[in-house]
Amino acid sequence: MKKSLNILFVASEAVPFAKTGGLADVSGVLPKALRELGHNVIVVMPRYYSIDKGKLEAVPDAMGVPMGPMGELWAAVYTTTLPGSDVPVYFIDYEAFFGRSGLYANENGFSYGDNENRFVFLSKAAFQLAKKLDFKPDIIHANDWHTASIPLLKKTRFAHDEHFADSATVLTIHNMQHQGFSFKGIVDVMEVDWRHFNPMELESMDGVNMLKGGIAHADAVTTVSKKYAREIQTAEFAFGLQDHIWAHRDKLFGILNGVDYEEWSPAIDPLIPAKFDSNKMAGKQKCKNALRKRFGLPEWDVPLIGFVGRFAEQKGIGLIAAAMEGLLHLDAQFVFLGAGEKWAEGFFSRVREHYPDKFAVYVGYDNALAHQIEAGSDLFLMPSLFEPCGLNQIYSLRYGTLPIVRATGGLDDTIENYDAEHGTGTGFKFEWATRDALYHTVAWAVDTWHNDKEGFAAMQKQAMSARYSWEEAAKGYETVYFWILANRLIKNYH
Ligand code: ADP
Ligand code: GLC
Repeated sequence: MKKSLNILFVASEAVPFAKTGGLADVSGVLPKALRELGHNVIVVMPRYYSIDKGKLEAVPDAMGVPMGPMGELWAAVYTTTLPGSDVPVYFIDYEAFFGRSGLYANENGFSYGDNENRFVFLSKAAFQLAKKLDFKPDIIHANDWHTASIPLLKKTRFAHDEHFADSATVLTIHNMQHQGFSFKGIVDVMEVDWRHFNPMELESMDGVNMLKGGIAHADAVTTVSKKYAREIQTAEFAFGLQDHIWAHRDKLFGILNGVDYEEWSPAIDPLIPAKFDSNKMAGKQKCKNALRKRFGLPEWDVPLIGFVGRFAEQKGIGLIAAAMEGLLHLDAQFVFLGAGEKWAEGFFSRVREHYPDKFAVYVGYDNALAHQIEAGSDLFLMPSLFEPCGLNQIYSLRYGTLPIVRATGGLDDTIENYDAEHGTGTGFKFEWATRDALYHTVAWAVDTWHNDKEGFAAMQKQAMSARYSWEEAAKGYETVYFWILANRLIKNYH
């Protein structure tokens, strides 16, 4: 079997070019880690309006992408490399689809009505591009619903295309909540036979469910933590697809995300006011003071609790809001960074107005501030209702900022609960998604900070020494790729 694979990695966002969440972190780094293992990887993503063409190299000649009833659409292609690597990124440029202010939604948070067309276009363009570049993929790696049509396209439209004769497909689910519900007509846009419109493949409530089709047809399906792979086989976490996932569980794997420690390490982070590390913690206090100064929070002898994330139900913002009154009575201060649900933006801004000494919030997206909150907080709040992996709690560990998390998905897999008796643990966990459980766990963490300084410091040491490397994660994906290819070979002997 080949040792060095050709991998076509297709995603709707990737750092440093376009990002709304963790998918971009993964797409910007995993391909590099795979490259370091010796594979040939190319990344394909849209050329959104926010990505400056002037900084990219144009790839000669327009590329035709057949879109069924919409006819053949002609895309331009641009390229550059992922920073610090030789991994090429190709940008699919098509003004009518990607020349907009947002990635998936407008400024008011309303999803674009033609998202399914936009991302079927991206998925098909990835195939066309592979041919144009004469890149014969062993693996086509799709991510989330946006590119979930790839496995089906491979098995139908491109089934007899010599170029993809040896290609297998992998679909990584970063978030089960977004499944790409579409109008039926997308079947014609995909140009696949209508016999695939059935409840075992594409059909869901008289429409098309893109993720469902991807799960049915991918050679392997992965999620971004082991626990989430188990959770999505249940009704609580699968948003209706539990039976479908269950049916395909033999090809389901959980591979925990890694962290880019070149970007997220307090010893070298250029975005924080003072550097520090586990053997030299003085800088952390400076970061805390600078953060409080920026938000006008008084320098009381209390822990600072940070939150960074999308203001989405997933992140437990409803729980936080419900527990807010109690939280504000604790001997602690809070600093929040996030944007999303309008009610939450309004709610947290009002809390800020009423409790300016205890609570601060910045509504918006600000990467430097995200780093400063990781560095300057003592505790990090992440009470997600579900969390496929979660990156912020892992960043927090590295900055000695102890996470307070709900025991779900990647949060459960990465955070070890504090055990005061044995002096072990890296954070504070609770099981049930209730206001009281959240409140009592935050109260426990605050009490530990005030009254068990030794225990708190020991946890910080343990947290800061934990490592979740991309090399490890990339080896997991490599194993899955080889598993698919070995399965294919073994079939010859059945
Ligand atoms: P998700 O992908 O579900 O949003 P993750 O924890 O995997 O959650 O990743 C979120 C990423 O987005 C992290 O890198 C985090 O720092 C970043 N992020 C989220 N919201 C903001 C914000 N308002 N400002 C800056 N960075 C943010
Ligand atoms: C999704 C999940 C998050 C995960 C990220 C990257 O956005 O919500 O938990 O870390 O994808 O895989």
